[in-house]
Amino acid sequence: MGKLEGKVALITGAASGIGKASALRFHADGAAVMCADMNIEGARQTAAEIAEKGGSASALQLDVADPAAVQDALQQTAGELGGLHIIYNNAGISGLNVDAAGNMSMHSWEKVIAVNLTGVYNGLFYGCRYLAERGGGSIVSTASIAGLVGLMGIPRPGAPEPEYGSGAYQASKGAVVQLTRQFAINYAEAGVRVNAVAPGYIVTPMTAFARADPAAEAFLVALHPLGRLGQPEEIAAAAAFLASDEASFITGVTIPVDGGYTAR
Ligand SMILES: NC(=O)c1ccc[n+]([C@@H]2O[C@H](COP(=O)([O-])OP(=O)(O)OC[C@H]3O[C@@H](n4cnc5c(N)ncnc54)[C@H](O)[C@@H]3O)[C@@H](O)[C@H]2O)c1
Repeated sequence: MGKLEGKVALITGAASGIGKASALRFHADGAAVMCADMNIEGARQTAAEIAEKGGSASALQLDVADPAAVQDALQQTAGELGGLHIIYNNAGISGLNVDAAGNMSMHSWEKVIAVNLTGVYNGLFYGCRYLAERGGGSIVSTASIAGLVGLMGIPRPGAPEPEYGSGAYQASKGAVVQLTRQFAINYAEAGVRVNAVAPGYIVTPMTAFARADPAAEAFLVALHPLGRLGQPEEIAAAAAFLASDEASFITGVTIPVDGGYTAR
């Protein structure tokens, strides 16, 4: 029996990268999966791949920055899949500090904070309440090494500022680490465990811009003591573990899954 047998999981950002790999992994471990994403076509595709493997899955369009939509997603998941036990707040975006002219970009700041920070807050705030009212459950969020240490910007000739030198991204991911602690403490008694994963650089569309440049890719690889970038399935494995009862005494932690990036 899989470690998520009998569970229903809502995964955000399930159209692509880590979220998609997690939807497939949660299914492989026995869960029914609601694939939520802004990109509804991509979310449907992930759900269809699970259905092809004989699993139970559905898809919904969701902007995690919208609190009402997050509440609706919880209800819709339970209605369609017969319950809700696990929420994986994974959707996220990257963004630069500056616009093309080199000026501070408030637009970029607000967008990254809205998705990466407010989006996770929505999932934790409404998710914890929802699960607590129904006897408990497990929540995982995707933080980042950017929430644990200061990131080295990726040098790019001609760019106004190194990619990933983004203050909004760093701030949002650091906040996810803290929110994970706060909600874990507040909801421990109610039986809701709250944890996070902190990926290093992972081979997904989010990092495609850097992997397209051999010098930038080599720069990133050298930052990981294991000598390579991570695969989305390696993050999915950690998220599935934290979501499952195998992690029954773990709450409030952020586990780096980073090839040793933060160990140095
Ligand atoms: N790839 C990496 O190297 C890396 C490293 C550390 C952390 N992360 C984090 O992992 C998570 C997943 O990233 P990924 O690498 O799989 O990226 P990705 O771009 O492949 O996937 C992100 C998904 O989130 C969706 N999304 C974006 N905004 C949304 C919104 N407002 N509401 C709902 N869905 C939305 C996108 O449509 C996309 O399907 C993000 O939180 C990211 O910050 C990624």
